[in-house]
Amino acid sequence: MREKLESEIGDLLLSEGVIRERVRALGAEIRNAYAPGSFVLLGLLNGSLLFTADLLREVPPETEVVFWRVKSYRGTNSTGVCEGLEAEGGDFTGRAVLVVDDILDSGCTLQAVDKRLRILGASSVEHCVLLAKRRPRLPGSPLPRWIGFEIPDRFVVGYGLDYNGRYRGLRSIRVLAEGRMAAGLGNRRTES
Ligand code: IMP
Ligand code: MG
Repeated sequence: MREKLESEIGDLLLSEGVIRERVRALGAEIRNAYAPGSFVLLGLLNGSLLFTADLLREVPPETEVVFWRVKSYRGTNSTGVCEGLEAEGGDFTGRAVLVVDDILDSGCTLQAVDKRLRILGASSVEHCVLLAKRRPRLPGSPLPRWIGFEIPDRFVVGYGLDYNGRYRGLRSIRVLAEGRMAAGLGNRRTES
């Protein structure tokens, strides 16, 4: 029943099971890369909510998790500006940080987050994104060490990814159907 409802939102790109397996594998690679307790996970809200929570359960229990709230998307388009970072801080001095985001698109979010973390004194910054769109990125934007899946340059929703705040709770990841975009659903700003 749930699967049928989800299918009306758009074509399936990644099923719940495929996502789960990949997150487990990413977790294993991250466990091998860092000594327990030696790094902090920095999840970017709202989009990486589910991914960060699942990844957190794959890494050693000592791992600290912090969230920052940023946004760069409105509807189905990047604004090219990453908003919200000025308000974010914390004690990152001398710490190894693993930034976790849902999806890499233009690269503007990761670039801006990196800059902020350097200002805050992080000793190293690595990135783990669940999805990366096959498209050109901004010059100088960081290349994540861990990428779950490379996907076509389409607008996707589910497993934390939204369209104007909707569909984050889908268990699968889907290409948003044209009809759903056309429906407009208002001009509320997305907070992904
Ligand atoms: P970038 O800053 O252009 O790399 O865009 C990355 C951010 O935009 C991600 O953190 C997402 O929140 C959002 N985003 C990019 N593409 C999509 C998409 O296809 N669906 C939902 N959110 C997206
Ligand atoms: Mg985001």
